[in-house]
Amino acid sequence: MATSAAGPVLIVGSGLIGRSWAMLFASGGFRVKLYDIEQQQITDALEIIRRDMKLLEQSGSLKGSLSAEQQLSLITGCLNIQEAVEGAMHIQECVPEDLELKKKIFAQLDGIVGDDVVLSSSTSCLLPSKLFAGLVHVKQCIVAHPVNPPYYLPLVELVPHPETAAATVDRTHALMQKIGQSPVRVLREVEGFVLNRLQYAVISEAWRLVQEGIVSPGDLDLVMSQGLGPRYAFIGPLETMHLNAEGTSSYCARYGESMKHVLKTFGPIPEFSGATAEKVHQAMCMKVPDDPEHLAARRRWRDQCLMRLAKLKSQMPSQ
Ligand code: NAI
Repeated sequence: MATSAAGPVLIVGSGLIGRSWAMLFASGGFRVKLYDIEQQQITDALEIIRRDMKLLEQSGSLKGSLSAEQQLSLITGCLNIQEAVEGAMHIQECVPEDLELKKKIFAQLDGIVGDDVVLSSSTSCLLPSKLFAGLVHVKQCIVAHPVNPPYYLPLVELVPHPETAAATVDRTHALMQKIGQSPVRVLREVEGFVLNRLQYAVISEAWRLVQEGIVSPGDLDLVMSQGLGPRYAFIGPLETMHLNAEGTSSYCARYGESMKHVLKTFGPIPEFSGATAEKVHQAMCMKVPDDPEHLAARRRWRDQCLMRLAKLKSQMPSQ
């Protein structure tokens, strides 16, 4: 963990993801400037961060070695981009997922930053080659894609532009580790990066199985939450292969042909609309009605579960 007064780190956009980054960087002892175009957004964000940090402290789940008050004292709001950028060693952009808006912001930052700051985007799916095209400081640009909620799900996908310097990737990787996140290097940009490609593969097959009447929506989700999911919280699909036989080669020899046989029966990309969409929606609403209160309550429950799982994972002996 860094000691206090490291940084500062600049967060551009103080919504859901900007707030989470601010908390994570403060937990690592970094000074954080939270920039937004709306004063009200900044005021609200600082209040939400205060509330969340206090709750986390009470439940023993606050990250880092500093108290909530110490971490809160590291975070300040800022409405002036020029002032916000001053001295920043890392800039994490968190504005809405809109290519033109993000390009505008990076062009603005490009005009005022020096040569020693990392310009990082939280984008979920915009390609670095589109986001950072033509920037003078392109070597300092990278995507650092978090997973929601970033405070409990530590994965960060680092995706370089073809011209991003290796030092930028290394620096961002080290910074993410310093704040307790788990960075992975995506070696070449690809649509959906890695996490969403895996997620979409699972969603597609889940959808087809429901569409073909092979399993109900509720039971489909149980297959993941009671079967694959808990195992994947600790080991990935490749290590699963390795452990489910006498090593990966043995798994491929034993199960390769049957995997290929099943995979050949997979259908086309679903439309995600029509009768199946209605069926899935109805089933999900039976469990969680889609009004704001029920959805928010279920999200709070999910975050509590993830918080406990994160705690458990941190207590497990590493092997
Ligand atoms: P949000 O809508 O909660 O927050 C966006 C913030 O940006 C707002 O505070 C808004 O006032 C501010 N903003 C808008 N224009 C601005 C400008 N020109 N300059 C400065 N601030 C400006 O959005 P959210 O959910 O936090 O998403 C931010 C980014 O993070 C998006 O690129 C999204 O794809 C990515 N992301 C989101 C995840 C999620 O589950 N919400 C997960 C991983 C990444």
